[in-house]
Amino acid sequence: MQLQDILYSQGFGTRRICAGLVAQGHVSIAGQVVDDPAADLATERLRFTVQGTEWPFHEKAYLLMNKPAGTECSQKPSAWPSIYTLLPAALRQRPRRGAAPGVQAIGRLDQDTTGMLLLSDDGVFIHRMSSPKKHVPKVYEVTAAHDVTPAQVEELLAGVVLNDDPRPVRAAAAEVTDGKRLRLVLTEGKYHQVKRMVAAVGNQVEALHRSQIGGLALPADLAPGQWRWLDAEELKLLE
Ligand code: URA
Repeated sequence: MQLQDILYSQGFGTRRICAGLVAQGHVSIAGQVVDDPAADLATERLRFTVQGTEWPFHEKAYLLMNKPAGTECSQKPSAWPSIYTLLPAALRQRPRRGAAPGVQAIGRLDQDTTGMLLLSDDGVFIHRMSSPKKHVPKVYEVTAAHDVTPAQVEELLAGVVLNDDPRPVRAAAAEVTDGKRLRLVLTEGKYHQVKRMVAAVGNQVEALHRSQIGGLALPADLAPGQWRWLDAEELKLLE
């Protein structure tokens, strides 16, 4: 693949800008400047540096973010900074055929919810991970306002009716981890689902953190506000 096309595919700007970046000597590979925009390179395991920033080539982007509190998952947030501002511009600009550019969050977390968020530019993956039919389990760590009672846990497991749907929604698993702390596993993603389910059993969510999606847990070393690429093994855990 030509170097200018590689840069374009990774979100470094229009084809013209990418050709210019290369021709002007802003791109290097293994410490050597490559200034021919048409230089033909194998993309497998390719790493290149653009204006001092090293970048690993990825045909598709699969990312994991630890969402901090006080951020919105929308591209056009209404009151809080968007989680997309935590990503480098290239990830927000990656061209996508037939879709808006850039990676997209898979599902949304509330402004005050923290934890695990997946982002991708692969439409098939986004659809698979967000399809209600797939029932991908998601683990939520709830801090409730009051001690969670065994009766509340039973009700969450048996199913509660939320005001927009006559069919009860139930937790796939629910366990009290410590007094006011509850671990809930849900396989669907209705609007404010955890908060509404906990309210429906007579308690209230004070803090909410998503700790796992499918077989993949949020790594302890990924601090709030940080993101990283997912590797092939981690992607397997999401299948
Ligand atoms: N359920 C909620 O109520 N809020 C979230 O952010 C996620 C799940």
